[in-house]
Amino acid sequence: MDTKTPAAKVKSSTSKDGNHGARESCTVTDNATGQSVELPLLSGTLGPKVVDIRRLYADLGHFTFDPGYTATGSCESKITYIDGDKGELFYRGYPIEELAEHSDFMEAAYLLLNGELPTAGQKKKFERDITMHTMVHEQLIAFFRGFRRDAHPMAVMCGVVGALSAFYHDSTDINDPQQRVIASHRLIAKMPTIAAMAYKYSVGQPFVYPRNDLKYAENFLHMMFAVPAEEYKINPVLARAMDLIFILHADHEQNASTSTVRLAGSSGANPFACIAAGIASLWGPSHGGANEAVLKMLMQIGDKSRVPEFVERAKDKNDNFRLMGFGHRVYKNYDPRAAVLRKSCHAVLDELGVRDEPLLDLAMELERIALHDPYFVEKKLYPNVDFYSGIILRAMGFPMSMFTVLFAIARTVGWVAQWNEMIEDPNAKIGRPRQLYTGKALRHYLPVTKRG
Ligand code: SDX
Repeated sequence: MDTKTPAAKVKSSTSKDGNHGARESCTVTDNATGQSVELPLLSGTLGPKVVDIRRLYADLGHFTFDPGYTATGSCESKITYIDGDKGELFYRGYPIEELAEHSDFMEAAYLLLNGELPTAGQKKKFERDITMHTMVHEQLIAFFRGFRRDAHPMAVMCGVVGALSAFYHDSTDINDPQQRVIASHRLIAKMPTIAAMAYKYSVGQPFVYPRNDLKYAENFLHMMFAVPAEEYKINPVLARAMDLIFILHADHEQNASTSTVRLAGSSGANPFACIAAGIASLWGPSHGGANEAVLKMLMQIGDKSRVPEFVERAKDKNDNFRLMGFGHRVYKNYDPRAAVLRKSCHAVLDELGVRDEPLLDLAMELERIALHDPYFVEKKLYPNVDFYSGIILRAMGFPMSMFTVLFAIARTVGWVAQWNEMIEDPNAKIGRPRQLYTGKALRHYLPVTKRG
């Protein structure tokens, strides 16, 4: 590749192609051989153009190299758009702030799955469809008995959700659109039920069945916190906060867990197995596990007076401590979801009569100091969605170990929407990246008697 002159020269277009706008291209030249290849430059509705490198290996004999996919588009999608520099997030074109203020999780789920906001009738039918799948097969209960009571609920989620494919053979044919719809509804509907069961099992309380008269978030809170010994009263403020948290976490472009679901699905694996793979990926502390890690970090810091010490540690290359809940691969501005959650924190704490939450004060002090520190400013490290969510969830009564489970409940909508989009994409093929091999060249077997 010509490193002296810009490798990508954009030539003016002469005609429009399919759905990618004007036909533009760039030329890549191998300076060693002088060989060049012209590659199409594709434009989307929003965001950077992409260099279509599908001919690169065939025409120039080289692969591209991009560990972590920092500058690589893995697919075409119409679902979610993020502008990291502006701190913008759109679900099917609607800004997350507007959906957070005016919508609810079931409506946002319909939007992500179908591409348009539902009519009143469509929404009512969708909610009914989901409600009618909230119970799980009674035999699934047996799976919980196999876990230790102190198992991390994300381990339980990985196992039990993956096992759903053993129960719902009538919705595993991914080539049948009707079966894809049923599998999608089953997954969205049953995640809260399984999540609540994982929590109840961990605290030794009886499982609580879903109720068809409750909305999605209300039903989840009921299954989580109701006990047979007394009536559970839904707190509408907490139910609204739960619904809001679900909206904010529903989808986020091609993040690690969504890419995991797409890659698993690209082999034709059934949707239950794909979502279980997504849950496993989300569990990592660099991804969905960060909300739990943030609270542990705040507890470790303990007091505002120690914030500068930990900010310095986060800047020290020799210290593997990182400010959890800070930084993002795409956002180089404030994560719009964090801004909504920051406001919601106060509403929930006020509703719960929590006048003084030291962890919130600590988080806001940490944010204040970090956002004025040259290291964080220069690297454009801002609070992300995980920075405030844990404080709200803890105030709502969730144990830290359940935080990422809640993230998984919400993100199941995005995973399912992205999985369906991939299956329906006529250009979809099995994902199979290549590599830069730096291991040993050809050599031959030596008997042990001849080895050094
Ligand atoms: C989510 O992809 C998504 O969309 C994810 C998500 C979604 O909705 O699906 O938004 C959800 O996963 C949010 C992110 C939650 N994770 C955390 O909060 C963990 C802490 N943050 C990071 O570890 C980190 O910021 C990542 C993983 C989020 C992003 O990592 P990148 O893009 O690979 O960036 P990087 O690790 O290369 O960091 C760039 C620089 C580095 O310094 P240099 O090597 O260039 O000198 O910034 C530094 C890093 O050391 N850095 C941090 C930091 N995050 C990055 N330094 C201190 N504290 C941090 N939190």
